[in-house]
Amino acid sequence: MKNILISGASRGIGWALLQKYLQNGNRVFAVSRNISNFITLKEQFSTTFDFASCDVSDKSDVENAIQNAGNFLNNIDLAILNAGISGSENFENFSSEKYKYIFNTNLFGVLHFFEYLIPSMKNNNGGTIAVTSSLADVRGFAGSAAYSSSKAALTRTLEAARAELHRFNIKIVTIRPGFVRTDMTAKNRFPMPFMIDAGQAAEIIINALDAGKARINFPLPTYLITNLLQLMPDALFDFVMKFYKVSIDE
Ligand SMILES: NC(=O)c1ccc[n+]([C@@H]2O[C@H](COP(=O)([O-])OP(=O)(O)OC[C@H]3O[C@@H](n4cnc5c(N)ncnc54)[C@H](OP(=O)(O)O)[C@@H]3O)[C@@H](O)[C@H]2O)c1
Repeated sequence: MKNILISGASRGIGWALLQKYLQNGNRVFAVSRNISNFITLKEQFSTTFDFASCDVSDKSDVENAIQNAGNFLNNIDLAILNAGISGSENFENFSSEKYKYIFNTNLFGVLHFFEYLIPSMKNNNGGTIAVTSSLADVRGFAGSAAYSSSKAALTRTLEAARAELHRFNIKIVTIRPGFVRTDMTAKNRFPMPFMIDAGQAAEIIINALDAGKARINFPLPTYLITNLLQLMPDALFDFVMKFYKVSIDE
């Protein structure tokens, strides 16, 4: 049995992870802004599940949530920092506020947890922090600059943290999904090849974490395609992007 913290657990990939970890007999503390699904789940898992409402972009909210999680779980063995938002923006009518909003959730929403989790795991002689980035971190995609760049910043941050925290027995895991069928992708108005269900995504993540992987990239075809995009000559990528723009319903 593991003591697990999951952020962004009210829907989508986080909700699927939460249910599977509880069904497998683990003790889980979940956070997100909306807690209505958690109230129902608590009736079923009264002793092994607890939760807090928390906006990860608000550092004091995260501090409170971590305190409550610590009280419930004692030692946190595994933290899955999964909360994230997408969004499209338009450089023709640009808003830096919208950009900040996405970075405040996708990047700082993880870093706020780092500030409290790292000292606590160091005291406990180790632990695992797994963070959901995205295969969209490979390039700047027209129409979703804030999302792809927030995930790129996140992936680079995790890589550096992994190297530094290794000596404290703190393992940093980077989760990079392709398209997964959730509320997030339901708003996308562009082709999403090789899309999988949230339950399948959760299964892949849990198995890879159990196997001790440091990087979890899936599904394979999307991983290979995004690797090719990364290796593509810049001039060719710029040319292709002239004919492609991500469009997302707000
Ligand atoms: N779906 C995909 O195709 C895909 C692909 C690559 C990466 N990802 C990443 O996977 C993660 C989960 O995405 P998903 O597809 O499961 O999305 P989702 O169904 O929209 O769920 C997002 C989760 O994040 C929480 N969240 C969002 N903003 C938050 C905030 N400020 N504070 C606390 N919780 C917040 C939401 O809960 P509340 O709204 O209740 O707060 C919800 O539980 C994200 O990091 C996303 O970027 C998804």
